[in-house]
Amino acid sequence: AAAEKGGWPSFMSKEVSEEPEAIANTLRGRINNGAVEIPELDGLDELFEGISRVVVIACGTAAYAGQVGKYAIEQWARIPVDVELAHEFRYRDPVIGPDTLVVSISQSGETMDTLMAVKFARERGARTLSICNTQGATIPRESDAVVYTHAGPEVAVASTKAFVAQIAALYLLALHVARVRGTMSAQAIAEQVGELEEVPAKIQRILDTESPRIAELAHWMADTRSVLFLGRHVGFPIALEGALKLKEISYIHAEGFAAGELKHGPIALIEPGQPVFVIVPSPRASALLHSKVVSTIEEIRARGARVIAIAEEGDAAVLPTADEVLRIPLAAPLIEPLLAVVPLHLFAMGLSTAKGLDVDQPRNLAKSVTVE
Ligand code: G6P
Repeated sequence: AAAEKGGWPSFMSKEVSEEPEAIANTLRGRINNGAVEIPELDGLDELFEGISRVVVIACGTAAYAGQVGKYAIEQWARIPVDVELAHEFRYRDPVIGPDTLVVSISQSGETMDTLMAVKFARERGARTLSICNTQGATIPRESDAVVYTHAGPEVAVASTKAFVAQIAALYLLALHVARVRGTMSAQAIAEQVGELEEVPAKIQRILDTESPRIAELAHWMADTRSVLFLGRHVGFPIALEGALKLKEISYIHAEGFAAGELKHGPIALIEPGQPVFVIVPSPRASALLHSKVVSTIEEIRARGARVIAIAEEGDAAVLPTADEVLRIPLAAPLIEPLLAVVPLHLFAMGLSTAKGLDVDQPRNLAKSVTVE
């Protein structure tokens, strides 16, 4: 097993180190001169014609990737998107039919809840597309089309490199649909493609520069009993993912919130010393959104919270109020979640390690849940 870990202390640490590669491999062969060309979707344009909505179904981490994907599909392809947990979707009476594209996301392709939801969607006449990391798995076989993520085999129970690859695949899909539907110019698509191609190097930079500090931070926080995560826009699902990872592998109570929702309830949780991670959106993309998150930081700081900000390099506005600032490279707004999640994966891993837990095999969890 030591050899399989390639010198890393755990599969999870190896897999986080492979996040750049997971994205690069997922993009490879699907980009041509700034255009998105997904060979698996060749000749399947009719799959996207006349659809009036997209429903993304998944469980766990994959569902958070879906929530990130919603922003891109709506912004680029101009189709309304709902993201649903597979087990909730199936047991009500959802309004779906031939004009619905159901996109399932699953690393394993074997999650029973997701599989049953895909079958249910087909029975209702919906079109189905699977985003999956495992060649020939059951879910892609039960779907009309598949776009594989090429993250490579993932062994650690908590999903990391598959998560970033799922977002990359969703973005490719969104740009593909945008072209088919004519909602984006070739030039606008090329710009986003260029941004995507820069992601692997940017993640590598985070891994190289922030890993030691994050491990140290986790070490000092080993006795922490609860951690909150705040984000806005695409930072919101990343806050949820950061909290899930901490629960899964460190057994620490963790909650993610939309930063704007804080004042409607969760702010009551803030007491002196409460650690709060805040994902700060780029001030270049939206000065308004950025200033709103900075004032959220000020509000929780005034109540004694210990703020760990994840902010773009050069963003000085967070310095007076945050206790710690973890830096991510400059990127387009929809690219930021792919970067902001990396420190959170490192932190969860660091905390689990600091507590002496089994990072790869957390209690009570299975890599792939093949029962309903
Ligand atoms: C399990 C794992 C999670 C994973 C979820 C969905 O609950 O513990 O880490 O996110 O299943 O798995 P899938 O293979 O469908 O992506």
